[in-house]
Amino acid sequence: MLYSEKVMDHFKNPRNVGTIEDADGIGEIGNVKCGDIMKIYIKVDNDTISDVKFETFGCGSAIASSSMATELIKGKPISDALKLTNKAVAEALDGLPAHKMHCSVLAEEAIQAAIKDYYDKNGIEYDEEVFASLLHSHDEEE
Ligand code: FES
Repeated sequence: MLYSEKVMDHFKNPRNVGTIEDADGIGEIGNVKCGDIMKIYIKVDNDTISDVKFETFGCGSAIASSSMATELIKGKPISDALKLTNKAVAEALDGLPAHKMHCSVLAEEAIQAAIKDYYDKNGIEYDEEVFASLLHSHDEEE
């Protein structure tokens, strides 16, 4: 089978779908090739992601990735959320087909963008390097 049961489960019953009206940070990332877009909303309390929601206009793997990624960072310190890689998301889903790995990259980067937005809005200083990947084009992400 092309997709793991976990991918199918998170695609059919995605966790944390929606928006947060008074979000502390919002991150939106698109993939220029497929045109899919993911938006992540976070609430932050004491340096911890106290709540997270997502909207994904994209393929099933992108939906499953955002669902799993939000589950993985909910209740976790920001420092942990920043370390979440797309590989970890894909592993937690019991794998994604190679040509669908880029869908999990959207989740990693949308989370980083939301945290960066939170830092920017609150005047919190950070190392630009941490967010370096957000500045690159997503053309080569496959
Ligand atoms: Fe574009 Fe999956 S095909 S995010």
